[in-house]
Amino acid sequence: MHSFEDLSKLFAQRFSADHFPAEPRSLYDPNRSFLQLGGKRIRPVLCLMGNELFEEITEETWQLAIAVELFHNFTLIHDDIMDQAPLRRGLPTVHAQHGVNTAILAGDVMLIRAYEYLNKIGSPRLSPVLHLFNQTAREVCEGQQLDMDFESQDQVSLDQYLRMIELKTSVLLAASLQTGAMLGGATQRNQEKIYEFGRKLGLAFQVQDDYLDAFGDPEKFGKQVGGDILANKKTFLLIHALETADSQQRNQLEELLNTSPSDKVQQVLNLYKQTGVDAWAISLKQRFLQESLQALDDIAVLTNRKQPLIELAQYLIQREQ
Ligand code: IPE
Ligand code: IPE
Ligand code: MG
Ligand code: MG
Ligand code: MG
Repeated sequence: MHSFEDLSKLFAQRFSADHFPAEPRSLYDPNRSFLQLGGKRIRPVLCLMGNELFEEITEETWQLAIAVELFHNFTLIHDDIMDQAPLRRGLPTVHAQHGVNTAILAGDVMLIRAYEYLNKIGSPRLSPVLHLFNQTAREVCEGQQLDMDFESQDQVSLDQYLRMIELKTSVLLAASLQTGAMLGGATQRNQEKIYEFGRKLGLAFQVQDDYLDAFGDPEKFGKQVGGDILANKKTFLLIHALETADSQQRNQLEELLNTSPSDKVQQVLNLYKQTGVDAWAISLKQRFLQESLQALDDIAVLTNRKQPLIELAQYLIQREQ
C-alpha cells in the first residue's frame, strides 16, 4: 500500500514525460508549461488508490491516471476562460498569457491526449471505463453550464448549488476512484460504494474550494482571491449569507450583486463574516466528509487498506491551496 505522498511522487515521475509534439510550439508550449506548474494531482492519485484498494497497481491504471489528470487540466484551461480568471497555480492563466483562441485549442488538444492514454487500456476493460469517463465528461459540461447560468440568476437554492458542484466537480473525483477500482477487479457493489465515497468527498472538496476563493491566503492559494465574488458565483457562502442576513444586510448584498464598486470583494467578505459563514462551512464539510467515510466503510475490503483514502479525504477538506 502507498500513501498519498508516495503516489503523488510516483505519479509526478510518470507524468513528467512530454505529452505533446514539438510543433507548433505556439499550441503545445502553453500546455507543456501549464502542466509543469503541477497542481495537487488529486484525481490521478484517486485512480491509483481506487485501484490499490483491490489490487497491486496495474500498468493500465497508470495510463488511466495520466488520462484523468490531462482531462482535469483541460477543464481548468477552459474553466479559466469562462471564469475570466487571471491566475492559476500562482501564474497567469493560459488565456491571459496566450489569448483565448490558443487557450481553447490548448484545452481541446489536452482532452484529445487524454483519450489517447485511455485507449491504451485493453479490451474488455476499456469499454466500461470509457463509458463512465464519457458520462463524467458530459456531466462536467452540464455542471459548468449551470455554474454560469447561476451567475445571472437571483435565486439559487442550496440544493441547486449542491447539484451544480456535484456535476462540475464531484463526479470526476468519483469516477477517478471507480475507474481505478474497475481496473482492480472490484465488484459492482464495491464500485458503487467507492463512487459514492468520491461523490460525497467531492462535495466537501468543492465547498473548501469555494471557501478558499473567498477567504484563502493569496500567497498560498495560487488563484485570484475573491474571483467568485466578482463573478457573482452562487456559492454556498452567498446562498447562506442571503438566507441568514437581516433585512439591512440582505439589501446591502443584493445591491452589491447588481453593482461593482471597487471594494466589492471586501464588502461582501464583511457580510459573509457577519452572517457566520465560517461555522457553516465547517458544518457542511463535516457533513459530507462523514457521509463519504460511511460509504468507504461499506466497501468490503480489509479496513487497513482504506487508510490512505481516509488520510487523503482529511487533507482535502483542510487544504489551503
Ligand atoms: C480545481 O481543482 C478545480 C476544482 C474542481 C475546484 P484542483 O484544486 O484539484 O486543482 P489543481 O490541479 O490542484 O491545480
Ligand atoms: C471548476 O470550479 C470546476 C471545473 C474546472 C470543472 P471552479 O471554477 O470553482 O474552479 P477554480 O476555483 O477555478 O479552480
Ligand atoms: Mg474557475
Ligand atoms: Mg468555474
Ligand atoms: Mg473555485
